[in-house]
Amino acid sequence: MLIQLWHEGAVRKQVPDDHESLSPSGFLSADVHNGRAATLGELDDITDAYVRAALLSRDLGASGVEIHCAHGYLLDLFLWAVTNRRTDKFGGDVSGRVAFPASIVRAIRRATGPDFVISVRFSQWKESDFNAQVATTPDELGILVAAFERAGADLLHVSARRFFEPAWEGSDLSIAGWTRSLARIPVITVGSVGLDRDVITNLAGVARATGLAGLAELGRRFLEGEFDLVAVGRCNLSDPEWVNKVRDGRFAELRPFVSMEEIRHEHPWEQPALYLAQPEMRPATPDEAHWAGDA
Ligand SMILES: Cc1cc2nc3c(=O)[nH]c(=O)nc-3n(C[C@H](O)[C@H](O)[C@H](O)COP(=O)(O)O)c2cc1C
Repeated sequence: MLIQLWHEGAVRKQVPDDHESLSPSGFLSADVHNGRAATLGELDDITDAYVRAALLSRDLGASGVEIHCAHGYLLDLFLWAVTNRRTDKFGGDVSGRVAFPASIVRAIRRATGPDFVISVRFSQWKESDFNAQVATTPDELGILVAAFERAGADLLHVSARRFFEPAWEGSDLSIAGWTRSLARIPVITVGSVGLDRDVITNLAGVARATGLAGLAELGRRFLEGEFDLVAVGRCNLSDPEWVNKVRDGRFAELRPFVSMEEIRHEHPWEQPALYLAQPEMRPATPDEAHWAGDA
């Protein structure tokens, strides 16, 4: 088990009378400003907090941690040139921009020793900008990958909205595939495995199982060596039997992933966590309403 360590950075909503949200330069995206740039002293404090959290994770029995450098949160805002406008050692070209996230990996490696697993999760896309790129060329990606490897990462978890999308024009290779071609350590792919909508657009709707066809494309890329491991998110959340069903070829039984928003509107009775504490508040299912005579 790995525990993911995550600092929100400029995604954190500003709370009145609380401290300002910190980030590389006070930007969440090209033109959205939030909070302010962290000082070098504050970045030291943040590094200490990551190390403490990693040691705590180890004490709790975790085999390792995953450092969240993806999706537009603090460490990703360092990687992305659009939000990292620093002129000190943690800004500039891709080797400057990766320096702070890599220094966190290095500090955790020093504190935890060689046997503790450190995974680094990064992405091109941000929640604020699907077309963002932290690496605009394979060469830049190579610099990023090498920096994390030198710092002591064991694993690279490359988050994409769709695992099958080419990273750059002129090649079919996904961003995980490019990373695999540049890295010496194992690479995880993720994103829309088994479903027909990506996680963000799925927030307001239903993603349906793609069945054997979608998984065949995953298998093809695996056999071509694009990645070593596959992470599966929503399929496992909506269907805890997903892996067993796929293994047994029971594709017709795979369940869709229904977003909370959709559930609120269309199936309000299907919110177990919400009504656990107050079962009397749970709306009746259509069947219950029918038998109670109000349908
Ligand atoms: C309910 C939910 C919570 C998530 N929380 C996190 C998180 O804390 N950290 C993270 O890196 N990704 C998080 N994600 C994104 C997933 O890790 C994954 O990248 C995404 O769902 C795409 O994979 P999928 O298409 O298999 O669902 C979350 C996704 C969902 C649906």
